[in-house]
Amino acid sequence: MRPELGCCYYPEHWPEERWSVDAQMMAESGLSWVRIGEFAWSRLEPTPGDYQWEWLDRAIATLADAGLKIVLGTPTATPPRWMQKRYPDMFAVDRDGKARGFGSRRHYCFSHQGYRIACAEIVEKLAQRYAAHPAIQAWQTDNEYGCHDTVRSYSQSALTQFRIWLKARYQSIDQLNKAWGTVFWSMEYSSFDEIELPNLTVTEAAPCHELDFKRFSSDEVVSFNRLQTDILRRYTAASLIHNYMGRIVEFDHFAVGADLDVASWDAYPLGFLEDRSDYGEEWRARFVRQGDPDFQAFHHDLYRAVGRGRWWVMEQQPGPVNWAPFNPAPLDGMVRLWSLEAIAHGAEVVSYFRWRQLPFAQEQHHAGLLTPDGRAAQGLREAQQTAADIEALGTLEPAVAVVAILFDYESAWAWQTQPQGASFDYFRLVFEQYRALRRLGLSIDIVSPAQLGEQHYKLLLVPGLMSIDDARLERIEAAADVVLLGPRSGSRTEHFHIDLNQPQGFSASVECVESLRSSAGYAVGDGRLEHWFEHCNADEASVSLTSDSGAPVLLRSGSKYYLCGWPNEQLAEQILTALLELVGVPTKSLPGGLRCRDTATHRFWFNYDNRNLEYGDKRLNPAEVYIETL
Ligand code: GAL
Repeated sequence: MRPELGCCYYPEHWPEERWSVDAQMMAESGLSWVRIGEFAWSRLEPTPGDYQWEWLDRAIATLADAGLKIVLGTPTATPPRWMQKRYPDMFAVDRDGKARGFGSRRHYCFSHQGYRIACAEIVEKLAQRYAAHPAIQAWQTDNEYGCHDTVRSYSQSALTQFRIWLKARYQSIDQLNKAWGTVFWSMEYSSFDEIELPNLTVTEAAPCHELDFKRFSSDEVVSFNRLQTDILRRYTAASLIHNYMGRIVEFDHFAVGADLDVASWDAYPLGFLEDRSDYGEEWRARFVRQGDPDFQAFHHDLYRAVGRGRWWVMEQQPGPVNWAPFNPAPLDGMVRLWSLEAIAHGAEVVSYFRWRQLPFAQEQHHAGLLTPDGRAAQGLREAQQTAADIEALGTLEPAVAVVAILFDYESAWAWQTQPQGASFDYFRLVFEQYRALRRLGLSIDIVSPAQLGEQHYKLLLVPGLMSIDDARLERIEAAADVVLLGPRSGSRTEHFHIDLNQPQGFSASVECVESLRSSAGYAVGDGRLEHWFEHCNADEASVSLTSDSGAPVLLRSGSKYYLCGWPNEQLAEQILTALLELVGVPTKSLPGGLRCRDTATHRFWFNYDNRNLEYGDKRLNPAEVYIETL
């Protein structure tokens, strides 16, 4: 595969005379893809039923004439003002019961049946008009499901659909009462019509009520997206794509991805470091112009799995953004580094957001590849360098990873529902184990529970997986030579009851669990357990590591291990190094923010740090990429 570059363009924002200049510049800069249209509904249908295609016809023709391939977006993330007149109750309602309003974007409730009809209409009209156009080689559905906290809606439409969903799931109200444990606090129901959404309760709602609402909300995103893919498939064989976001876990991306051909995500490394990192001031200061050294890689690997091997970066940060608490400029070289890192992880396309900075509206401080007055910005220079790098690299094939980590959205919802400790976060738990593997120099696969067994690994990590029944345990065991489960894995049944068999497959039992504030961790040699600890009763023979105070930390049963707590960096590294040695996988000890990633033919080295780093005979400046042929 030969990776390609692209950008996001909004012809409706610029004078028509400029379009051909832009298209020419894109092509000359080495970009071959351009994404358009995803927010243009008010220009496509200014009043209901009055479709205005001519401007888009001309924009598409201009871009196509320059040899660009087009991703056409469906505009359903931005319903125009008239939609509110048609469906005054189409807005999502937040947890406090307040309806969201018009004036920005994503202002719809996934469960509103009328809005779904309107979406189906515009998608069908777009497909009828453009599916046959040879330049339209991919379609993007909507834009960033879940961004701006938009998955869960507590509206009347959501309530109606939730009751239908529950009836289908439980069949009888007795089953539901049993599953939810409603005998507790006299919460019993006598019919599905009595059930409300789990907001506005005085204190916690029943955890299974919460979890079912989260499952339902995710299913609503899946069916909303499917409505569009079903229509598009009738008209086109082009790739269908959605652009996911960073660290959004409120819907099951694997389930949405099953209806699409390619997964893509929007990579804003500096924005994410500022507004969704768990690490303190020192960490942020060190990586302020480079981004977290593992955050992008994690999502590249996650979305490669969501896309079943096919994935893109649909939006790559090209300079400072506008939306984080602080918006620094990347170090010179970082835009190229981020682009090459995506390519090393197997991205088919890296597309920059946006072509040109817009001198008006909400994102006027958001950099583009061009400045607001149309001159080349640093982002464009680095995109051009990346295009030259790609030319020099030729075709790239992915490496086969020997280690994998399991990621499961339902587990994220479970631990959001009952974290049991303020710092327990599923994403963070998985991410920290992933980071430990990366620091050991490994290329990693992420897999979903449904993908278990598609490839055999030397080592598989399964942190925090909510439910493990016998069948799932068998599949986990068969997926790798050695498996490391825990902490918290297999600790709930599907109905969110404590699973009395945890840890499954070990001659041990969990006596109690505790969550730990940072001052209350447990020392384990040079390392520490933090955030979470499970006190296990276990046969001495099955304990392979204990804390300094003698409590079991790592249990073993054959080739299966169970980690009883949340290890800090040193402890995670120590345990993983030992397990990797056991399965014969060589590790490296990478200094600071140095990371590497293999393709079948090359090893890419990335210096994310703010200082020079040395490893073996390599010496890398900050933001430097070193590419070795294997
Ligand atoms: C993304 C979004 C784009 C733009 C960008 C700014 O989340 O998809 O439309 O808003 O952020 O960084």
